[in-house]
Amino acid sequence: MLTLSIIKADTGGWVGHSSVHPRMTEVAQRAVDSARGDLLVDGQVASCGDDLALVMTHERGCDTEAVHRFAWDVFQQTTGVARDLGLYGAGQDLLSDAFSGNLRGMGPGYAELDLTERPSEPVLVFLADKTEPGAWNLPLYKMFADPFNTPGLIIDPHMHDGFLFEVYDLFEERRLVLDLPSELYDLLLFIGAPARYVVHRVVSKTLGETAAATSTQRLSLIAGRYVGKDDPVMAVRCQSGLPAVGEALEPFSFPYAVAGAMRGSHHAPMMPVAAADAHPTRFDGPPRVVCLGYQVHDGQLGMPRDMFADPSFDRARARANEVMDYFRAHGPFEPHRLPLDDMEYTTMPAVAARLTDRWEPFGPEAPATVPAPLPAPATAGAG
Ligand code: F6R
Ligand code: MG
Ligand code: MG
Repeated sequence: MLTLSIIKADTGGWVGHSSVHPRMTEVAQRAVDSARGDLLVDGQVASCGDDLALVMTHERGCDTEAVHRFAWDVFQQTTGVARDLGLYGAGQDLLSDAFSGNLRGMGPGYAELDLTERPSEPVLVFLADKTEPGAWNLPLYKMFADPFNTPGLIIDPHMHDGFLFEVYDLFEERRLVLDLPSELYDLLLFIGAPARYVVHRVVSKTLGETAAATSTQRLSLIAGRYVGKDDPVMAVRCQSGLPAVGEALEPFSFPYAVAGAMRGSHHAPMMPVAAADAHPTRFDGPPRVVCLGYQVHDGQLGMPRDMFADPSFDRARARANEVMDYFRAHGPFEPHRLPLDDMEYTTMPAVAARLTDRWEPFGPEAPATVPAPLPAPATAGAG
């Protein structure tokens, strides 16, 4: 049994929150190289925006202390680089002073899945910046449940029975497994609210194995204070009874709206980009997603393919820019700005406290008030 672990953290941004400094990537890659053949079967370092991701294969299973500790140590080292270079928000996602047990609740995000390697094992690794884990809900629904996206659901006998969706309720810390397609409407009722309900895992009923896994930690809830959106990662296994590579990429041809962008507090379009363009600048956005394609073999990752470096996603990018203009024109108004409860940080409590004595009731029970004097009418003919 092989485990694929994608563990990521924002340990400092170059410049502002826009990207990872090459020196941080170098330090992380060196650490991964020295663990290869020992703790890890294989490993690579990737990034999207200001988030550094370790893409690793190993044989120790999900949620393993040694692997999580290794990632934590690497992020300590990249934080050190960020401090040395005066990068922005050094150590941003490392919420605890010391590692204990596993990374749950400690800040870094991780998506992990166990797999029995097939003779050919195509896996897509998606990395996003300036958004939140619920951003995977819509594409996962399309990949694994929407026949308009994935004809394999109809015509591939290994997909026809459907998939199980494991959904996390991030507010109540509970989970629910729904059986698709029969519980499709129930699923959509929940995951249409991606700030709270997040698809954590998709399991193939035919294969009896995990087909997709996402990171679901929500930093703002973990920390109880603003620490940035927990930019998510996801792994999707493809082909032979699972969505074809093209079916797994197709949902991103639509630049759907997600929460994130500036100050983690705005709706903006999800833009699929090549790795070279994964540096959100305009309005700290638009949120973007890169996809690294791996042909896993004997546990080795091989050379990644940059899946969105493809002109067939140009229209999605152009549309995302148009949608960004449209949202931006709303300025501080919803639906560009998130509803009050979903904003990552807000001055509302302080402003509300300051103005609390100035609110007056105006309903039918309200005491009659003396109307404020009106300004005197202008004198006719004056001027
Ligand atoms: C969004 C994000 C950025 C920051 C913004 C302000 O997830 O990370 O948009 O929120 O640049 O950053 P601070 O408060 O660090 O100045
Ligand atoms: Mg950052
Ligand atoms: Mg980020």
